[in-house]
Amino acid sequence: MKILVVGSGGREHAIAWKLVQSERIQTVFVAPGNGGTALHPHLKTIPLSNPHALAEFAIQEKIDITVVGPEVPLAAGIVNIFRAKELKIFGPTKEAAQLESSKDFAKAFMQRHAIPTAEYQTFSDLSAAHAYIDLKGAPIVIKADGLAAGKGVVVAMSLDEAHGAVDMMLSDNSLGDAGARVVIEEFLAGEEASFIVMVDGKNILPLATSQDHKRLLDDDLGPNTGGMGAYSPAPIVTPQLHARVMREIIQPTVQGMAKDGIVFTGFLYAGLMIDDQGNPKTLEFNCRMGDPETQPIMARLKTDLVTVMEHAVNGTLDTIELEWDRRTAMGVVMAAAGYPDAPRKGDVISGIPAETTDCITFHAGTTVLDGRLITNGGRVLCVVGLGDTVKLAQKNAYETVEKIHFDGAQYRRDIGWRALNKKH
Ligand code: AMP
Ligand code: GLY
Repeated sequence: MKILVVGSGGREHAIAWKLVQSERIQTVFVAPGNGGTALHPHLKTIPLSNPHALAEFAIQEKIDITVVGPEVPLAAGIVNIFRAKELKIFGPTKEAAQLESSKDFAKAFMQRHAIPTAEYQTFSDLSAAHAYIDLKGAPIVIKADGLAAGKGVVVAMSLDEAHGAVDMMLSDNSLGDAGARVVIEEFLAGEEASFIVMVDGKNILPLATSQDHKRLLDDDLGPNTGGMGAYSPAPIVTPQLHARVMREIIQPTVQGMAKDGIVFTGFLYAGLMIDDQGNPKTLEFNCRMGDPETQPIMARLKTDLVTVMEHAVNGTLDTIELEWDRRTAMGVVMAAAGYPDAPRKGDVISGIPAETTDCITFHAGTTVLDGRLITNGGRVLCVVGLGDTVKLAQKNAYETVEKIHFDGAQYRRDIGWRALNKKH
């Protein structure tokens, strides 16, 4: 089998790392990949990212299956382009990807199908948005309708902050078209979890649960980021809660999309807020795996991923079961100086140890220049430790993090704190 993985982040490195372990694999290509995929002896990194060029490549190379990591090519219709050429690809069509690419689409969809989520309204008119904020009061959440690479959500604790956020999006146009419409929604308190499943059009196969750390700094302080660390499983998702999320959120979403005439295929990621009574609500949908959640999830997956992908594109996900490493996997993100606002590039990275059975370093914003590995993006590495307890997984991750050096490296020291408070 030949598989093409589209993307350049830690998520794609982890997917490719897992695929290439399969006995059934001939070649795993990663496009455009990163320093980690380029240095991997068995992965082939190719400098392509345009969806049409990728489809041509898939035809020439006789790629059996393409797996798409990030949301941008999905929202641009890469799945539609591949399918028009009868190429097998796992991901949602452009129409289905609206669950992620338009917050207004997702909210209206959830309301129509009675899927639990925060109360909201959508605005493109500035004064109406300000009036709604005054009516509802703070805390309140302002979200740009379109894709904004993690910069489109402001959780406003004060009215001033909320008014400032709508000015930034609707009046100053700071986020361009993505912020030309805003969703203003009720603030939800609780604990977040990432609930990711695979959908083949009709069957749903849940992956292991996980939990991300969105804020830059320890104690969940500082600005929101793409994610500074994640672990799997997430102890807050008990078997009872898992069943409830499947029944109340995931199944109605897949069925609702079908009822609306849009068959969903691909990874479906529900970002959940679980209140102190244990009730889940949907904060957002993503139509892809999470980053960094994928890194600990892939580290725990025991089932052959090539076989899973084959079932996913053939519509037979109901015929397999996934097997997971019982250990906890914990990923700690090492980010570049200046992340998230203005990440610095070009710092030399040293000290990454070889992979062991209890620690793997996945690359994201790295590249190889003149034989040296250097930083090339905001989130640089994700170091995943595995251990029989949350504490051991954490220890294994941080022991490696401390061996790695690049100037200005930023990382949180408390990844896993919620799970540690639950299980000792
Ligand atoms: P989103 O991209 O919609 O997941 O939002 C990014 C982050 O903002 C989430 O992971 C939450 O931490 C936070 N957030 C989003 N919506 C809400 C909400 N309604 N109430 C509280 N926090 C929220
Ligand atoms: N880690 C959050 C996301 O991938 O959206």
